[in-house]
Order: sequence, then C-alpha cells, then structure tokens
Amino acid sequence: MNSFDLRIFLLIAILSCIQCKPGSPVEPVISTVYSDSHRPQFHFSPPEKWMNDPNGMVFYNGAYHLFYQYYPDSTVWGPMHWGHAVSKDLVHWDHLPVALFPDSLGYIFSGSAVVDWKNTSGLGKDNHPPLIAIYTYHDPVGEKAGRNDYQTQGLAVSTDEGKTWTKYPLNPVLKNPGIKDFRDPKVFWYDPGKKWIMTLAVHDHISLYSSPDLLHWTFESDFGKEHGSHAGVWECPDLFQMKVEGDTISKWVLLLSINPGGPNGGSATQYFVGSFDGKNFVADSNTQTKWLDQGRDNYAGVTWSDIPAVDGRRIFLGWMSNWLYGMKVPTEKWRSAMTIPRELKLHREHEDYYVHSFPVKELEQLRKKEISIDSQIISGEVDLTLQIEFPPSQMEAVIEIIRSDQTADFGIELSNARGDKYRIGYNSVTNEYYSDRTKSGKLDFSNEFGSKIVTAPRLSEAPIHTWHILFDKASVEFFADDGNVVFTEIFFPHEDFTTMKLYSSNGTVALNKAKFFSLNSIWK
Ligand code: FRU
Repeated sequence: MNSFDLRIFLLIAILSCIQCKPGSPVEPVISTVYSDSHRPQFHFSPPEKWMNDPNGMVFYNGAYHLFYQYYPDSTVWGPMHWGHAVSKDLVHWDHLPVALFPDSLGYIFSGSAVVDWKNTSGLGKDNHPPLIAIYTYHDPVGEKAGRNDYQTQGLAVSTDEGKTWTKYPLNPVLKNPGIKDFRDPKVFWYDPGKKWIMTLAVHDHISLYSSPDLLHWTFESDFGKEHGSHAGVWECPDLFQMKVEGDTISKWVLLLSINPGGPNGGSATQYFVGSFDGKNFVADSNTQTKWLDQGRDNYAGVTWSDIPAVDGRRIFLGWMSNWLYGMKVPTEKWRSAMTIPRELKLHREHEDYYVHSFPVKELEQLRKKEISIDSQIISGEVDLTLQIEFPPSQMEAVIEIIRSDQTADFGIELSNARGDKYRIGYNSVTNEYYSDRTKSGKLDFSNEFGSKIVTAPRLSEAPIHTWHILFDKASVEFFADDGNVVFTEIFFPHEDFTTMKLYSSNGTVALNKAKFFSLNSIWK
C-alpha cells in the first residue's frame, strides 16, 4: 500500500467508525472535540451546543445518570431538551442520545428523576422498577399570548434503565394554578408518610406537593416568602435530610437557586436548614441567608436521587456558569460545563448549621503526578512552576497555610506568557476570601464578567487555612476551611495558564503542607 492508499484507507476506516453505533467507535472523535480551546478536561461538558441546568440526576443499577438542559441546534439557550450522559464512577461520562424532546405541551425545562422502587405508578414492566422523570413543560405559545399558566409539570417513564423515555399520555400531571413561574420539580420518596414529595419553585417561594403514585399530586404547603434572599426569581429547589456530622441528629436542608441576586452578582444557590414533617418545611429561626457557593459560577445545582444507603452520600452537581454572561462566554462549538460532583456534609458551628462541600473521592483516580513542596515562609512571590513540573491548568492542590501576620494578603496566582493572571486568596484585614479574574484573559464578551474582585466572609478566625483547589483549563473550584467557603469561578485565558505562584503581601505566612497533583483528562 503506498502512502496515498494508506491515507484513503484510514479515512474510510475513520468515517465508518463515525457512522457505526455509539460507544467506543466514536472515541477518536470525542478526544478531538475535547481538545478545543477552553475545553474543561475533567468536567462534564456536552460535545457541542448549548447546555444549562443539570436535570434528572438519579443512580440506578450501578450508573449515575446526568440529564441536562440542552439545545441541540445552537450555542445559545433555545427550545429546551434533556441531554443525557451516564457514568459508572462520577468522573468519566458516556454521551447518550437526547432523552426528551419538546412536544405540543412545550419545551422540556428542568426537573428530576427517581427510581419508582415499589412501582407506585404502575408504569413498571416485568417486575423491574421504572425510572420516572418529572419535569416542567414550558409552553412558548401560552407565554407569547400573555397567559400565566404556561408552565406545568409532565412525566416520562423509562423501562430500559434510562436509555429510552416515553411521555405519560395524560400529561401534565400537575396543572398550573395561574402562576407565571411554576417550575423545576424535584421529587423524593418520604418513607414515614409512604408518599412522594415534590418541591416546586413558584416565583418567590416553593410549594410542596405530595402523591401516592407520582401521577396525582396534592398541594401540601408553601415555604419561603419571608425567608432568604428575594432579589431574583426562585428556581431549582431540592429538599433532603442530612445527618449532622459528629452528632446523632438529622436536619432537613433546602437548596434553592436564585436569579439574579447572588452574593457576587447574577445567579447563585442559597440554602436553608430546618425540619420537615411530611407536610411543612420549617426553617430554623436563624434566617440569615446562606450561600452554598460564593463564586459566580455554580447555579441550578441539585443532588442525586437514589444513592444507595450503604453509600449514604448526598452528592451535588451544578451548572458552572451564570445567567449574567453564560450565553456569551468565548467558546465556539459548545457552551458551559458542570461543576465537579461534590459531597455535601452538614456541620454544626457557632450554634448554627452549615453545608460544607467536598470534591467526591472518586476524582482522586485522576491524579497522575504528585509533587510535595517543602514547608517554607512565603513573603512576596514564590514561583513554584519549576518545582511542580507540570502546567497548573489541569491541577489539584491541597495546601495548609499558617497565618502569623494579622495583615497578610495571600493566595495562589496562575499566569501565562500573554500576561493573563488569575488570583484566589485571603485578606486577613477584612477576614475575607476573594477571587480575582479581572485580568484573567478574555473579558470583553461581557461587561459583567471581569469587572470586579469578588469576596466572601470567612466564618472562622483560626490561623490555619486548609485549601483544596481544582484548576481546569477554564475554571477554579476552591474549597476552604473544610469546604465551608466555596468559590467556583470560570475564566478564559488567551492561552493555558503555565505559571503558578504562591504570594503573600503585607505580611508573611508559613506554607505548612502543600501537595500538587497533575490530573488526567477524562476524555482522552
Ligand atoms: C434555571 C432555569 C430553570 C428552568 C431552566 C430553563 O437555570 O431557569 O428555572 O427550568 O433554567 O432552561
């Protein structure tokens, strides 16, 4: 075979691979797609086109399902579908065909999925429990006509472990009582009452509904008109019970996304801790607004349903973007990624309860090379690039810093030869963490993106700071103080960051422990 014949042969082989069934044959294509600029290497993003909220996250038969708001015809938001991916380990994802398409009742907005273990719906087959998705229908015709009742709740069933979905013929299963924002149902089984509970975002509060069979729903109660932040519309609730760490008691936690009105602009997720008796959710008397993430890029996140009791974790994932600029970010073929999956834990501190976030332990399998840095005093800037031997643009850091100086301003800086810089750190004078992407690269796609340094108060005054940080090509996830303060922020450097420095100005700090890991890509 001469070299021309060889090229033709390879071309035919590649083309025939693209056309055969999904799975391994498309892998060469996937790895090229996932090499484009700003493409996250260990976060989920769709191969192409627009994605927003995670939806229908459910674990069944060894597989974590992730559905997501998807518009397959454009890189900006449009008629919503549910895209679908599946993972055996919460780290590597296989793309599956679109699960739900818009129909005569409307677009398919956000919602949830559950395993109907007892076949309460009667929609199961051959003694296998069905997977049930409950989602919002958004009727664009009704909206255009100026009606109030254009959002209703629909149901779809899968009897083949989520591969294919059939919409319930009597949809919607919950009609609209005449309220414009009436969406994002999250459903769970409430065992003490032997019934399903649905939390629904209703403009400025949530409504709780119950059902014996997922098909017929009864209003139970409202929560929230007088609670938390109301600077925007309430969206994507999630109510679940959590054990308090180091204690025997459990509390109920309600996650609630709000847009706009986030602590640092645009969209963000607040939460409430309280009790639930099968009818009413009652927040603890301390009604101060708490934020799950202080960064600008973690929205509409909810937790997986049906994680087995032996695992027992509450696992969360959010949309790593912000409605302020999500549709303008400078990626070409696709838009948006998800956060890494996180384990949530509930801690009692200062006579109150706080949700802490941690990267799920499964992510540790991505660690490739590990470098420990000697303990040292940091004064000014210390360039660690040569010592860590790998680029910081796909890296995990676990750091312990001791602050001896009450005025020190310290943190980590990533930069590149183009002069782009990103900093995340702590200011002792204000007792605040901060994220500074004001010089991080491409900024001009939105006035809102790089205009300010964002901050978050630190709850503790302790001199020891433990930070767990994950940097991907276009994002940082910063977990400080045992996951109590979290910043998720995206950025778009003109080229990948290549240099990493630790810095401390206005005083010195001691770097006590520092481990850096290069991370494998999940797509290659
Ligand atoms: C949140 C949200 C949801 C809605 C969906 C539409 O980001 O606005 O309330 O169901 O996105 O795509």
